[in-house]
Amino acid sequence: MAGRFPASWVDELYARADIVQLVSTYLPLKKKGHNYWGLCPFHNEKTPSFSVNPDLNVFYCFGCQAGGNIAQFVMDMERLNYPEALAFLAKQTNLPIPASLETPEDPAVQSQKERLYQANEAAARYYHDILWKPQGAKILSYLRSRDLDDAAIRKFGLGAGSQEWEGLSTHLESLGFSREEMRLAGLIAVKDNHHYDMFRDRVMFPILNVYGKVLGFGGRAMGDAQPKYLNTADTPIFNKRYGVYAANLLRNQRNLQRIILVEGYMDVISLMARGVQGVVATLGTALTQEQARFLKRFAPEIWLAYDGDDAGQLAIERAIDVFNQEMIPVKVLQFPEGMDPDDMIRKQGIDAFTKLKPISPYLFGMRRVEKRLDLSEQEGRTEYAKTCSALLSSVGDPVELDLFLKELAVKSGFDKDVLLAQMNVAGSRVQKVRRQQDEKMSKRKPAHVSQAEGTAAEQALISLLASGYLPENFLKADDFLSPAFCDIAQKMLEGQSPSAIMANLENDSLRSLAGKLFIRENSDDRETALAAAEECLSTLRQQRIGRELDLLRKSMEKQDAEEKQESLREYMRLSSQLSKMSRSSADRKEV
Ligand code: GTP
Ligand code: MN
Repeated sequence: MAGRFPASWVDELYARADIVQLVSTYLPLKKKGHNYWGLCPFHNEKTPSFSVNPDLNVFYCFGCQAGGNIAQFVMDMERLNYPEALAFLAKQTNLPIPASLETPEDPAVQSQKERLYQANEAAARYYHDILWKPQGAKILSYLRSRDLDDAAIRKFGLGAGSQEWEGLSTHLESLGFSREEMRLAGLIAVKDNHHYDMFRDRVMFPILNVYGKVLGFGGRAMGDAQPKYLNTADTPIFNKRYGVYAANLLRNQRNLQRIILVEGYMDVISLMARGVQGVVATLGTALTQEQARFLKRFAPEIWLAYDGDDAGQLAIERAIDVFNQEMIPVKVLQFPEGMDPDDMIRKQGIDAFTKLKPISPYLFGMRRVEKRLDLSEQEGRTEYAKTCSALLSSVGDPVELDLFLKELAVKSGFDKDVLLAQMNVAGSRVQKVRRQQDEKMSKRKPAHVSQAEGTAAEQALISLLASGYLPENFLKADDFLSPAFCDIAQKMLEGQSPSAIMANLENDSLRSLAGKLFIRENSDDRETALAAAEECLSTLRQQRIGRELDLLRKSMEKQDAEEKQESLREYMRLSSQLSKMSRSSADRKEV
């Protein structure tokens, strides 16, 4: 996972970084036992269940199960990806970034980018200032006519492109920016030795990234001028595949339960100005895989709030596919024909919006099918039943499926049983595609998801192993039953730190579990720890034998007499071993 950072550098970083110190800059911590405790920053709580283990450099919340090492904490808190979090920590601990990485690009390219950011920043200020001057009056009154108050205008840094041809370029020139820099930033156009401002007489929407840097602009025309929206073309610092509008505001909105994805700048502003949190828009293009992955960092679920016209509905279908591919849960908010979220709020009020219930993509799909068919004819109802059955054969949740089937039965006039049978026919095809997808997924993610929870004995043993009280060679990775635990134990036995192990666990629930185990308080003396570990090992051996017995029983069902005889002997041997073991562990407990 560390990717381009050398392992030795990452080790050095982890050794330098002090998790208690870092976490303390975000929330007060109090020492209790080995660990430090505080109110969890990742969910709302009144009594502290967030704990930090200073020796292992890991954290875990007993309330919301958030957990990980120091880099994970930075990722969650600062909304950064892993390499960004490492860079953040490096800065905090004054560890120089490895020379090979510091200049991934030519320094000239780096500083050119920095210049373009600065030019954009200056342009954003210029546009914003015009808004409050007489030449911006028309655009200011346009914004007011769309119910935007000064607070919203300032929050989004809205501005006005001047009517002059060279207003911005003259201003930027006075600040020392070259014409070439302005052209590269997409702020001016150059034609046959002439140049002119790209955005004139438009409402200006600066587009900022998560760090608050201005990447580019959207500009909305006044009246019927075309194009209605003009967006900065891709530049060295702006790529529409990656950015979303209002990304800069996402970082400060914690504990978002969902992100609302809309189509237009005005929809974002209109909703957020009325107190709705976590709204972003794509930049006038269809949703990309990159944007979906980016959004995943900020909330567990996405709600699509696209326009209620045909183009919007088609865009929802595509966006659902994109989110499905990234395995991001998605729901749909539906708007009356021809309205976008902004239209709706302004006509019906914000309450009408907050009352909207997001629907599942399946229901959305069924409604789409229903729209293009005539359900008053038998032919239409039959096609509706068939198409929707195929659609529903991938529903995983039986309760949900039942709900959809009920609606389908009422509308199509077919019996639920008939529909279920139809689903199996259609499903076998769908399942094949799905299996192929699953195979792809499992190839991509080697994480051991099955049996990830392990048994109580395995969990206790990992925790004891982390305590450092167990002597060398006390146990082997093979002593664990679940593959995920074997893997973790193997790494610990090889001497990897819990913190480094957690950094490499890509499976969220496994990482959370590991955090919990690493942070668990074990008894303070070696003797007790050893005795507890012995007990766990013995339990695990018994569980292993129990499993072998299960397997034997199953295979005996299919064996002929002679084979059965052989298996039976083995069965007896294992059973007697098992009963001896459980007797002796019962004895131990009595002593
Ligand atoms: P208002 O009419 O001001 O409410 O804008 P809107 O957001 O409702 O506009 P619309 O639904 O037409 O467009 C949605 C989004 O698509 C806009 O926010 C732009 O990002 C983009 N868009 C719209 N028109 C154009 C265009 O002419 N060119 C480009 N490149 N993008 C556009
Ligand atoms: Mn609109």
